[in-house]
Amino acid sequence: MYDGRGDDRILSRLRGKKLLLEILAGCVAVALVVLVVAYEQSARRPARPSPPQEAMEGIAVDCVSEWKPAYVSVYYPRTENEQADKAVQAFVDGKLAQFKQGARPGAKDGGELTVSLKVTRFDDDIVSFLFRSYTRCAGEAGGRDELDTMTFDLSTGERYELASLFRGGGDYLKALSRLVYDELQSLAFYRASEPESALLRKGTQASAENFREFALDGDTLRLFFPPAQLGSGPNAADRCDIPLAALKSLLARRFLLPRRGGVEPPEPDPLKPEDLEGQKLIALTFDDGPHRVNTPRLLDILEAEGVRVTFFVLGCNAETLPDIPRRAADGGHQVASHTWHHKDLTKLGAAQRRAEIEDTAALLEHITGLRPTAMRPPYGAQNEAVRAAADTPLILWSIDPVDWKTRDADKTYAHVMAHVRDGDIILLHDIHAPTIDAAEKLIPALKAQGYIFVTVDQLLAARGGAAPGEVVMKRPGEPEE
Ligand code: NI
Repeated sequence: MYDGRGDDRILSRLRGKKLLLEILAGCVAVALVVLVVAYEQSARRPARPSPPQEAMEGIAVDCVSEWKPAYVSVYYPRTENEQADKAVQAFVDGKLAQFKQGARPGAKDGGELTVSLKVTRFDDDIVSFLFRSYTRCAGEAGGRDELDTMTFDLSTGERYELASLFRGGGDYLKALSRLVYDELQSLAFYRASEPESALLRKGTQASAENFREFALDGDTLRLFFPPAQLGSGPNAADRCDIPLAALKSLLARRFLLPRRGGVEPPEPDPLKPEDLEGQKLIALTFDDGPHRVNTPRLLDILEAEGVRVTFFVLGCNAETLPDIPRRAADGGHQVASHTWHHKDLTKLGAAQRRAEIEDTAALLEHITGLRPTAMRPPYGAQNEAVRAAADTPLILWSIDPVDWKTRDADKTYAHVMAHVRDGDIILLHDIHAPTIDAAEKLIPALKAQGYIFVTVDQLLAARGGAAPGEVVMKRPGEPEE
């Protein structure tokens, strides 16, 4: 019997099966495509360059990533400085454009370009970017490695070439030539081979072309050399690390010492302002340093005595011995300005006067991380113009034992002990050894009389303060006679 409904049932069952088969076939096809793609990927795709170390503060990492027909993976930094970012972008665009020039339209294998990034730092502001590239042109079997470096001051966007790390002139090339040659020549590879050693000598000659790629990493200058510059074959050296200390006499001011920025001030003085109320206070001040030998010796004594003082340092001395004022600041001493060259500020033109004050303040801020809060004009010489140019109080003194003249520890000691009163600011010079001897005797003697040693800032805070441009000529807070 013809049963239409039965036919319908068979039909719909068949349709169901067909649909099921279709779905199954679809799944298989998709799975196949996925497998093929995955296989192709795993076969053709080179190891991805490892992303750079966890991005440093203020530096993010971006990536240009393409897959077909060429494999492109370019890591590059994003900073908070627009000028630096533009220079990096131009570098990345250049790399990509150069690579794409070698591409063959329609080629199945588009070649590969991978660029990895490493970031190193000199200090909070100066960073180096190292780009290691591997380029393999379309259809070629082998590729080539390249290394590019860029160094920026991210506070200004300025890009540094190697020459700009050094004071003017080409002396730095001679020094690098000698240092790199000596360092690498000691390697077994060069000692064992006269021809390689000759190539090393040629490749390290003192010319700007031989020293191009560099990075700053802490207290180390890392130099990089292209393949074949320093020898033949894969075992030739392609880099050399030089401690910045070995180049100290040649370095530009900016690179003598890492800039201090955004650091916590040194541990606060255990003396609270309320501890100073009603006490006999005394501020020892030391001018004209730092001195290579005498100032560190004084710092040792002060540390042993637990006493804090004020240093009025000269910019020209602090520039060559920056570690000493840094140590003083770290020890809680006040590091203040005595101008750059020790010139009579009243006899200078406005621009020079400004430079004497400003250059020193900038240097001390660089060294200590703190803008100086006091200035002592050389010879105590000041007038309206000097007061107007100063953005801190001008600190003179109330006792002057003329230690610079007598160079006699006993006389300096006797003078201070004979005149000392509460609130005194004592003028001394840490560039003279007898003054350090005098300080060594003075501190316990004054302690025995009940004096508390304070910095100029602490003394001013305890005695009514002083405004920028104000001259403190004697004991702060004491009325003029
Ligand atoms: Ni002086």
